[in-house]
Amino acid sequence: MPIDRQQYKAVLRRWASGVTVVTTRAGEEIAGMTASSFTSVSLDPPLVLICADKRSNTLPVIERAGVFAVNVLAEEQHELSARFALAGNEALRFEGLACDRGPTGSPWLPGSLAVLDCRTVAAHEAGDHVIYVGEVQAVHIDDAQSPLVYYDAAYRRLAPARS
Ligand SMILES: Cc1cc2nc3c(=O)[nH]c(=O)nc-3n(C[C@H](O)[C@H](O)[C@H](O)COP(=O)(O)O)c2cc1C
Repeated sequence: MPIDRQQYKAVLRRWASGVTVVTTRAGEEIAGMTASSFTSVSLDPPLVLICADKRSNTLPVIERAGVFAVNVLAEEQHELSARFALAGNEALRFEGLACDRGPTGSPWLPGSLAVLDCRTVAAHEAGDHVIYVGEVQAVHIDDAQSPLVYYDAAYRRLAPARS
């Protein structure tokens, strides 16, 4: 029996996650989108995955580039998350951001909690999304930051569990 779509979405909203912006560069073209579908896959070799909607404008750039960077957002970066999730502002998303370039050429967003610079090693079609598996080429960590948390369609911050 098919499950109820609204209930399915309601269940997914109960999954707390971090927030990333996945960026990529193909030649002079840069693109990026907010993504919470980031997961570590393997330690040896170091593999991670992200899932991109097939309608995403970032997807074809990832395809052409064969690389992407996962920028793990810090608490203070919730506006960046909103910016990279908004449809129609693609040309303006990187405006005013002094991005470094990772070894793959993908933009690293300033102020990120961590960055994983990846080369795409596999792409799997999965329903209305594509799963991109990336082999991590370089990493960056900013220990001074706290993570941005997304839960029930709202941005949150981490707090210790009550005992
Ligand atoms: C917190 C959050 C998490 C998201 N996670 C994903 C994701 O994992 N994959 C995805 O394809 N879209 C995700 N989105 C939606 C995209 O960011 C949004 O559709 C964006 O406009 C896509 O940009 P693009 O079409 O330029 O690639 C998320 C949005 C938010 C706010």
